[in-house]
Order: sequence, then C-alpha cells, then structure tokens
Amino acid sequence: MDRILVLPGDGIGPEVTREARRVLEAVAERHGRKLAFEEGLIGGASIDAAGTPLADDVVELARECGAVLLGAVGGPRWDDMPVDTRPEKGLLRIRKELGLFANLRPATVFPALSGASSLRPEVVEGIDMLVVRELTGGIYFGEPRGRALVEGVREARNTMVYDEVEVRRIGRVAFEAARGRRRHVTHVHKANVLEVSQLWMEVVDELAGDYPDVELHHQLVDSCAMLLVREPARFDVIVTGNLFGDILSDEAAMITGSLGMLPSASLGEGGVGLYEPVHGSAPDIAGQDLANPLATILSAAMLLEHSLAAPEAAAEVRDAVSRVLSDGHRTADLILGGDGEALGCRQMGDRVLEALAAS
Ligand code: IPM
Ligand code: MG
Repeated sequence: MDRILVLPGDGIGPEVTREARRVLEAVAERHGRKLAFEEGLIGGASIDAAGTPLADDVVELARECGAVLLGAVGGPRWDDMPVDTRPEKGLLRIRKELGLFANLRPATVFPALSGASSLRPEVVEGIDMLVVRELTGGIYFGEPRGRALVEGVREARNTMVYDEVEVRRIGRVAFEAARGRRRHVTHVHKANVLEVSQLWMEVVDELAGDYPDVELHHQLVDSCAMLLVREPARFDVIVTGNLFGDILSDEAAMITGSLGMLPSASLGEGGVGLYEPVHGSAPDIAGQDLANPLATILSAAMLLEHSLAAPEAAAEVRDAVSRVLSDGHRTADLILGGDGEALGCRQMGDRVLEALAAS
C-alpha cells in the first residue's frame, strides 16, 4: 500500500488536485496497486484553519507518506501579510524541512499545442528541456534577511548564499539527468556580477570532469532569457539556482503553450518526493471550474515515476493527456485568442480518464 499526501492549498489548488487524484486512482487500479490518500492543509487554507501556513503534523505526515501531491498556495486575502507568515512560507518550509533540494521542471511541447504558444510554431517545434532548479538555498533562504528603519529610511535586505556542497549536489542531478537525455547541460548564472555565480561556475566545471560524455555550457541568465524565446529547442538540461530557476521555469512553461501544462517534481536525499504544478493558485478563476488540471495530472505522472517506481503507469498518463489534446480538447488557457469551445476543469479530468480507460 502506497500512501500519498494531498495538499490542495488555495485558489484552484483543490480543483486541480481533485482531478489528478482521480487519475491516480484510475491508473493504480489498472496496475493492481493500492493507494491510500491522506489530506492536509497548507498555505492560506492552513492560516485560516490553524493560524500557520504549515503545521508540524503535516510535515510529519509528509515524511510518513513519502509522496506529496500539492496544488498551489496564496491569494489576495493573504497578500498584505509579512513574508514570514504568508501562505508561500508554508511551501518554502515544506521544501526545506523535507530536504527537497532538486526541483525538476520538464518543459516539452505537445505537438497538438504548438499553435497555442505565443511563439511561432516553427520556433516551438522540438522544445524538450528540463529545468533543474536548486530549491532549498540561495536568496530564498539566505540570512541575514529582513527590514529595518535606518535613520528614518526604510531598508530591506536578502542574502544570496550557496556553499559548494549545495552546488555540487544539484549539479550532479543535472548531469545525471542529461545522461538519460541529449547529454547537454546549460548552467545559468550571473558570474559577471555575482560571486555566488562564480562559485557555481567553478564547482560545475569541476563536476564536468566526472561527466566527459556530457557537454557543458555556461550561459548568462539575461541572455538565457532571451535565447529561450529565440531558440528554445536548443536547450536540453538547464541547471541553476533558486531565484533564476523560478523565473526561467515560468518562461519555459509559457513558450510551450500555457503555464497550465507544466509539472514539477521536488526530490532530495530523504526519499520524500513532492509533486506540484508550476503554475500558481490563480485566484481570479478559483472555484469556477475553469482551471486546467493537466499540469497537476502530469505532476501525478512524475509521482508515479519517481516515488512509486511505476514508469509504465506514468507513461500511460502522459499518453492519455497527449491523446486528449490531439483530439482537440482544450481548457480556456489553451485557446489562444479565445476561439473554440473550452472545457472546464472537471470535464478535462473526465476526458483524461476516458483516454486512460480506452488505452
Ligand atoms: C514556484 C512558485 C513559488 C516559488 C512561490 C509560490 C513561493 O513561484 O514554485 O515556482 O517561488 O518557488
Ligand atoms: Mg514560480
């Protein structure tokens, strides 16, 4: 019996995790696997119910379950809160407490969606990259941080800090991943300005000695942002720190057609895996059955692969999603210019379940 902790979170989180859970149940049944689902609170939902964005017993439950499926956190209701008590803090804390330093964000273009990208179809064709983002260090967690009033002037500071151990372990994840792909790693940095990036550069270069079969390339983050819209298909594995990875993974997602399609897996040394869509809580459409559940369904496929060692089941889920799209089914976010009929979140989940049943 495999246990999965579902943390729906805020906004569209409950809607999209509901559909992903139905898909997991269906695919487990086909493979004769028993899944036990637990549910917990995170983010604003947890602030409202328990006064904290993440309670200790939820972290404990995540450790026990070993696999976590998360929706999204945050929303306008909690926007005025200081960063330390906001919904987002719950997400950052669970990543940190579970030691999930490696965030894998694959961005591929489903052929049926090449027309949904804001880029021309011929530019989009062949996009198949993996953003490997460091997730438990860097400026998100560095000390000192905070605000101060200095002689009547408001001031705020954050610290970007990495040590070589942190860089080496995420670097290894990237090189290893490249071996199962096109054997190319792009390290993204700002070494013309930041000492932190110079350290990354050194450590990644040293690591490259262990991987003579993988080609390594260093790319400045600003020019990487530019190349992602000019020639996205050239990228294979991108490895970078927490902040650059956050920004570039949204860009990578959008060029594939919609932020509503990109899944992620966060892994570490403790054996726990956390799976969540790259998109946010989309409060503007929450509770209206308009959200695209596919990024969460594809995150569930990553859960099957990485936490449940069920690569075939994972492939079936991806195939089902692909078939649904090539049959022309779309949620609103996938319809560029607003033409055509949009399915709701539940209907999209239904289509994926039907495609699974038919395979
Ligand atoms: C992401 C999100 C989070 C992040 C926020 C919600 C804290 O943008 O997972 O990309 O910055 O890591
Ligand atoms: Mg982000």
